[in-house]
Amino acid sequence: MAKKRKHVDRDEDTSQVPARIVPPSEPLPEGVHHYETIEEVPWDVQKYWHQGYSIFSKYDDGIWMTDDAWYGVTHESVANTISQHVSEAAPPNRSIIIDAFCGVGGNTIAFALSGKWKRVYGIEKDAATLACAKHNAEIYGVSDKITWFHGDCFEILGAMDGRTEKTVDALKAIAGQFGIIFASPPWGGPSYSNTEVFDLESMEPYTFSHLYKAFGKVTSNMVLYLPRTSDLRQIAQVVDGDKKIQVIHYCTNGSSRALCTYLGDWALLKLSPASSNGY
Ligand SMILES: C[S@@+](CC[C@H](N)C(=O)[O-])C[C@H]1O[C@@H](n2cnc3c(N)ncnc32)[C@H](O)[C@@H]1O
Repeated sequence: MAKKRKHVDRDEDTSQVPARIVPPSEPLPEGVHHYETIEEVPWDVQKYWHQGYSIFSKYDDGIWMTDDAWYGVTHESVANTISQHVSEAAPPNRSIIIDAFCGVGGNTIAFALSGKWKRVYGIEKDAATLACAKHNAEIYGVSDKITWFHGDCFEILGAMDGRTEKTVDALKAIAGQFGIIFASPPWGGPSYSNTEVFDLESMEPYTFSHLYKAFGKVTSNMVLYLPRTSDLRQIAQVVDGDKKIQVIHYCTNGSSRALCTYLGDWALLKLSPASSNGY
């Protein structure tokens, strides 16, 4: 008999079956999965499978993932802590947040749950991944707070030299006046962790300077989620003028998973040294 994921935090009472948003018999969109047993999971995803409830505590409610998303998704506790920091230290008059690489919704859902933002926007270029994000936001009860865009974030935000037909001028305008951009870009695959100091100018497919300059065409207020070993000297070299940059490591189980750079007019982040949130 197939073995289910072991979840120590959840009530083991099997009479309390979580309500599923989508009946299991309904076919999922192509490339989208909700694995229930490890036997269903492709071998290269199996090492992430045991982290399922750390990624989304509501995994059993029918969370959708693509196989690529398991590696890049922001785990729920980290997403919630980032969301708390972004809410507390946001520059004045910022009432909307744009998750430029929203993936399957890890960060977007946390931002929407915070109740801080008038509107949360999620942009994702891969259709199957975006379908997961929309579905997962329903599971967390926040889909009415989020507007989704399918496509290239640089085009949609007008973060290039000149606009394209995909540019959403209204989004660019409100982002400039009231917005913050949060970006958790691809890092070029798991091999980033093999280097002691990660060269942000070799990050693929978008280098740090590309991200900073492109999003800077929309707003100077941004948070970039980067590999934990990122070369901080490169960030200091690329960022304009004498602006203070805050860098926070986000940890689980005592080790850093990633860091966020807060660029723009952020208040000083107040971090408790005895925090149980692991930053
Ligand atoms: C590291 S993942 C984001 C994970 C996300 N924070 C989450 O918790 O699910 C990066 C995502 O960016 C998407 N992506 C890559 N280039 C993009 C682009 N130019 N515009 C929009 N999305 C893009 C990828 O398809 C991928 O889903």
